[in-house]
Amino acid sequence: MYESYYGLTSKPFQLTPDPAFFFASKLHKRAMSYLQYGLSQAEGFIVITGDIGTGKTTIANSLLDDMEQDIFAAQIVTPKLNPDELIKMVASKFELDVVNKSKSDLLEDIEYFLSGLAGQGKRALLLVDEAQNLPLETIEELRMLSNFQKAGKPLLQSFLLGQAELQPILRAPNMEQFRQRIVASCHLAPLNRDESIEYIEYRMHHAGYNGNKLFSDDAYTAIYEFSKGVPRKMNTLMDRVLLFGFLEEIEQFALDDVQSVIDEVKAEMFLPEDISDSALPRNTDIPADNSDRFTHKGTQIREAEYYKKMLFELVDALDDAIKHKIKLTQYIDRLLKKKYKAYVRLKTDDD
Ligand SMILES: Nc1ncnc2c1ncn2[C@@H]1O[C@H](COP(=O)(O)OP(=O)(O)O)[C@@H](O)[C@H]1O
Ligand SMILES: [Mg+2]
Repeated sequence: MYESYYGLTSKPFQLTPDPAFFFASKLHKRAMSYLQYGLSQAEGFIVITGDIGTGKTTIANSLLDDMEQDIFAAQIVTPKLNPDELIKMVASKFELDVVNKSKSDLLEDIEYFLSGLAGQGKRALLLVDEAQNLPLETIEELRMLSNFQKAGKPLLQSFLLGQAELQPILRAPNMEQFRQRIVASCHLAPLNRDESIEYIEYRMHHAGYNGNKLFSDDAYTAIYEFSKGVPRKMNTLMDRVLLFGFLEEIEQFALDDVQSVIDEVKAEMFLPEDISDSALPRNTDIPADNSDRFTHKGTQIREAEYYKKMLFELVDALDDAIKHKIKLTQYIDRLLKKKYKAYVRLKTDDD
């Protein structure tokens, strides 16, 4: 909607991890080199961790995008897979028939497939995204897969991408054998202020922007402070900021402009603040004579109460969001009418 107003050829802040928009910050560059180095090792595991939205999937997609022809890459995004499901998933990603096959059949087929690839001078890469969801036994199964060899050369290499929770999983004492197979690992942190500004400008230019400086310094600071330098948060906010700019016909954003968008976005966010046990209602929320309060049942009651409360809050928040959307639509409507009238006036003046 705002693209033509700002002279853009595409939307600069899409949420899909698009390799064409890859911005190589210092950390992203380093992570990319690790992945490339890992690839050249052709064995073991590469692990990339990082908080939600810091760019793990984007990096992986960029890597897959410019990968050599001789690598057969399969990408898995894992819900909580058990070891058997993992094997099935891997087999199907390698385009093998999985119907009515036992696990040992599948393992045999996978080995046959991998060794066939090696025979053609190719190799296989398994990219496991959201790997923090994998149970320990499944990670162990992955390790077993990495044991396949032909003439002393490993047949499969894996990359694990996961949120910070993946780190303690891999640090577990019984994961020693797995750890020995890690050839490189790194952690993606959010961008710092300067990098965040570069990130925004990079994406804007990449989407075709070539006008004047669009944001004042303190407007940038507000964007950075709100998004904490997390690319996904920046994308969501920036999309709204540009829409606001188009509606308000803003040519350079001042702090106040950005702040009003941040206030709107904040009002629309309905994330639970803390769903850890400490956030659960305390025993005082249960009738005093409830003898179950310290038992399993007591905990269940507390949880049910808590989720009920949370659902009510969610309903309120959704109501607010709908009201807000209606307001926004009405606003856009009015604006379009205004623009249309101005256009008709200009046209009659011309005639
Ligand atoms: N280095 C980067 N260059 C360009 N865009 C990025 C970069 N890192 C993250 N993004 C953007 O941020 C959003 C979230 O990135 P994503 O890779 O999905 O994060 P993660 O997998 O770590 O949760 C995506 O919209 C993506 O386009
Ligand atoms: Mg991801």
